[in-house]
Amino acid sequence: MREIRVGVIGVGGHGRGRHLIPLTRTPGARVVAVCDTNPQTLDSVCREFHVAGYMDFTEMIEKEGLEAVSIATPSGLHYRIALECLKRGVHALVDKPLGANLQEVTEVVKTAKRHNRVLMVGFWSRFSPALRYGVDLYESGAIGEPYYAYGYLVRRRGIPGKPTFIDKELSGGRGVMLDIGCYMLDNILALTSFRKPISASGAVYTKFGRDPEEVKFNWGWWNPAEFELEDFAAGFVRFENGLTMCIETAWAANVSHRGEVGRLRVLGEKGGIEAEGHEALLDLGFYSRTKNFLTDTKPVLPNADLPLEMTKAFIKAVQEGSEPPVTGWQSIILHAIIDAIYESSRTGKEVQISLPTI
Ligand SMILES: NC(=O)c1ccc[n+]([C@@H]2O[C@H](COP(=O)([O-])OP(=O)(O)OC[C@H]3O[C@@H](n4cnc5c(N)ncnc54)[C@H](O)[C@@H]3O)[C@@H](O)[C@H]2O)c1
Repeated sequence: MREIRVGVIGVGGHGRGRHLIPLTRTPGARVVAVCDTNPQTLDSVCREFHVAGYMDFTEMIEKEGLEAVSIATPSGLHYRIALECLKRGVHALVDKPLGANLQEVTEVVKTAKRHNRVLMVGFWSRFSPALRYGVDLYESGAIGEPYYAYGYLVRRRGIPGKPTFIDKELSGGRGVMLDIGCYMLDNILALTSFRKPISASGAVYTKFGRDPEEVKFNWGWWNPAEFELEDFAAGFVRFENGLTMCIETAWAANVSHRGEVGRLRVLGEKGGIEAEGHEALLDLGFYSRTKNFLTDTKPVLPNADLPLEMTKAFIKAVQEGSEPPVTGWQSIILHAIIDAIYESSRTGKEVQISLPTI
């Protein structure tokens, strides 16, 4: 298979660790350049990986003749950068979230389609063996028709105190629901085949971020007087075919567990799934019955390098011109739900969801 010339845009913590490093190990990918607006970060990454460095991604694309990029800048910039890359005919792996809202996400997906480019969303969590086992169960019919799902991704104290996540423009102006709630929502949607959402109710709260005392318990530093994002969000969603879902997510909450805990449950007529982990699921069990016995099933899950699986899937899709496993359309469903939860919180009413035509 031919080699794809790739550049990475945004090589901070996540971009370096979960995009650049796996791309350097991905067969068929040749990382020739990186782009970052922080000169120190750029310099150190260029030295470490022996690649060319740019402060401007459009210049990088042109000068390096890139066929593909992977984008791991702060979330609020994903939309604009992805659009520019796709319009230049470059395939894009864009870290989650694809945009700050449904309108942005829709525009990116339409642009990828118009320019016939591969657009993959960087949910590395999708390559978790636990999740894949759950999808297998669903697709084999073992769960039957799912009717209820519950997702929980909560940190006791984990407000990410750095501009990437707190600054209004860099974060996309949204807090925990967009930042980590999207992972749990995506996990549930993947386990229930991305069915069409009909309506959502939700509530978002800012209970910790404006309290100066809280800065010492959380991560990094931020100015409480300027904190505008939600640190807790809850939603209730109705889908086609009678499925309903509850989701809870928090950067900070007065809960018993330490650190971040992810829990998920999908109940079907024939069997149920319970899973645990963080953004990515680590363990999953299947609960059902035979004619005379209740049964618990635990798979033997292999270890997997999830970011590597993600970059391999992206490069394969680019080489083959095929649809990647994490699609833009799936993010349209995800962001339609997230937008509806925010809108419901603002209005105090249940919000009807309609999906755009692509
Ligand atoms: N940190 C994590 O554990 C984690 C996990 C999953 C996803 N993510 C996602 O990855 C993205 C980046 O998060 P992070 O933790 O790496 O943040 P970070 O602040 O460590 O890195 C972001 C990098 O992007 C650079 N940048 C900003 N604007 C740029 C531009 N216009 N062009 C090029 N580079 C630019 C910054 O200089 C910085 O080096 C976010 O969307 C976040 O949601 C992060």
